Amino acid sequence: MKGLQCLIKMKEIFKKYKLIPLATLKSKEEVKNISRLLLDNNIPIFELTLRDAAVYEIADEFQNFPEINLGIGTIKTKSDIDFALGIGAKFGISPGFKSNLSEYAHKNDFILIPGVVTPSEVLQAISSGHDILKFFPAEAFNGLSVLRGYQNVFQGISFMPTGGINNNNMQDYLKLDNVIAVGASSLLPQELITSKDWDQLDARLKNHLIYT
Ligand code: 3PG
Repeated sequence: MKGLQCLIKMKEIFKKYKLIPLATLKSKEEVKNISRLLLDNNIPIFELTLRDAAVYEIADEFQNFPEINLGIGTIKTKSDIDFALGIGAKFGISPGFKSNLSEYAHKNDFILIPGVVTPSEVLQAISSGHDILKFFPAEAFNGLSVLRGYQNVFQGISFMPTGGINNNNMQDYLKLDNVIAVGASSLLPQELITSKDWDQLDARLKNHLIYT
């Protein structure tokens, strides 16, 4: 599946799961365990953030879990897009907007969700052909109020707030008509991954208010 069809499918998946778990995984064992936990709990979506050199070495392990709709996060360069394409990622998320990255993603038929905060950044991203935008860092920039203010101004544009999203505020974000999904590391805390506490991670996924 390519291009527009792929984007339509991904939008459906974002809407269905609402909360995209994200983490920086650093070993193939972590990839295997997290993938199994996600699939066991019927959450076939994950954002792997590029925040450690080890990620580049282990990410291809996801190819053993093709049911997971894998996104690559923290995309900052064209070579990050090449990396994401190389391991078969379905989408990419960038903390900001850069027109050369946007062009490169379009040229390669890669779904890139650029990060924005201000109205000018939103306009730039829209004029480069994007209609799903990451709003980052959401809490630091008063995301709920700002996104409420964007509803009438940027009609037809969906936002994916991340940065400081947790169980206490995610429902409020998800109630906004222009929020397609939220992303959060709070679902799979890094310390539980590092300590290999798979049982506790499993319990967090099982009992999560968004998925139950
Ligand atoms: C991101 O990359 O989207 C953010 O770092 C996620 O922010 P969080 O760690 O506060 O969830």
